Amino acid sequence: MKVVVTGAAGFIGSHTADALVDVGFDVIGIDSLDPGVHRAAPDYLNPRVEYCFADLRHWNLDDRFNDVELIVHFAALGGVARASREPANIIDANCRGTARLVEFGRKLKRLQRIVHASSFSVYGSNYSYRCSDCGVTGNGRRREKDMARGRYEVVCSQCGSDMAVLPIDENATPNPLETYGASKYMQELCYRGFDRAPVNIMRFSSAYGTRLRLEDGEATIIAKLAGWIRARQAPQLFEDGQQIRDWVHVSDIVATVIALASGGDGPPMVNVCSGKPTRLVEACDILAETMRVDCKPKIVGGYRPGDMRHCLGDATTLRRLIGREPVTFREGAASAFST
Ligand SMILES: NC(=O)c1ccc[n+]([C@@H]2O[C@H](COP(=O)([O-])OP(=O)(O)OC[C@H]3O[C@@H](n4cnc5c(N)ncnc54)[C@H](O)[C@@H]3O)[C@@H](O)[C@H]2O)c1
Ligand SMILES: [Zn+2]
Repeated sequence: MKVVVTGAAGFIGSHTADALVDVGFDVIGIDSLDPGVHRAAPDYLNPRVEYCFADLRHWNLDDRFNDVELIVHFAALGGVARASREPANIIDANCRGTARLVEFGRKLKRLQRIVHASSFSVYGSNYSYRCSDCGVTGNGRRREKDMARGRYEVVCSQCGSDMAVLPIDENATPNPLETYGASKYMQELCYRGFDRAPVNIMRFSSAYGTRLRLEDGEATIIAKLAGWIRARQAPQLFEDGQQIRDWVHVSDIVATVIALASGGDGPPMVNVCSGKPTRLVEACDILAETMRVDCKPKIVGGYRPGDMRHCLGDATTLRRLIGREPVTFREGAASAFST
């Protein structure tokens, strides 16, 4: 079976292309080798993948694609900071790139499925919270006057107690807060009305694994923490360092694609996340232990308005799809960061 993997030279796309080749698929990888991501073609490219180094925005079908049965679409420009610097480029690359893929998808006679990489950024801060006395509320807004006094948790507006975040599931209403998230939501919307083949949308929480670029200017918080600790520099944490994140190991993303590629309908939307909360201070300890570095984070306090206190996914659909628990951060860190 022939598969197109877009973004196949990137962090997640390359791991997925490797795995698809290993289970017997013929893989064509499309990647623009975007200069904001790559200085040169990365050394991990797979000799068993046929690469087509092109930007989806300017790419055209040729005879090699006639018998494509599956498209796995990872190509996108990432980074919230980059998206605020270059909004037109990010929206164009991500949305026009996807729109062209949809256009070509209509022409592929043997196409059976599109699997699309989306992101938790489409949810924005649309989390619900539980107060042990007053119940569940959808209002996770934090007041600046609380944060200025060093109270960083989300507070119940009725009784003033700290509230617990509830894992977000696929039914939450998208409400992206910035350009990158908006472009990822628009990518999802590009498939509306596409009736040539089923589309499965995967929404990833923040991903980690080997090949994650730790020194990248657009690095995610997990890449930054790992980069600092590897360089034996104490990570500087805002607030009290107790912020919650849900990091997904790249092997769980690969397992999701393989499960969806292996037939059956699969869920139209699946959160790909660990489903387990990890606090930033805890992550620093796990990383230091894994890398055998004696390095404690420095809690610098203060806050940045708009920073998310919590990110936590509900992994129920994922568990059902891959038939096991997702990898915990402690397990995943050992394979991602031990060397
Ligand atoms: N890494 C994460 O934590 C994370 C979280 C949520 C969602 N995602 C999504 O997963 C996908 C893969 O992310 P990644 O971390 O592997 O990113 P990455 O930057 O490592 O890889 C993306 C690849 O896509 C290529 N690319 C970008 N725009 C292109 C275009 N228009 N045409 C052709 N190639 C193009 C880049 O050259 C790069 O090699 C993206 O869609 C991203 O939005 C990633
Ligand atoms: Zn209350």
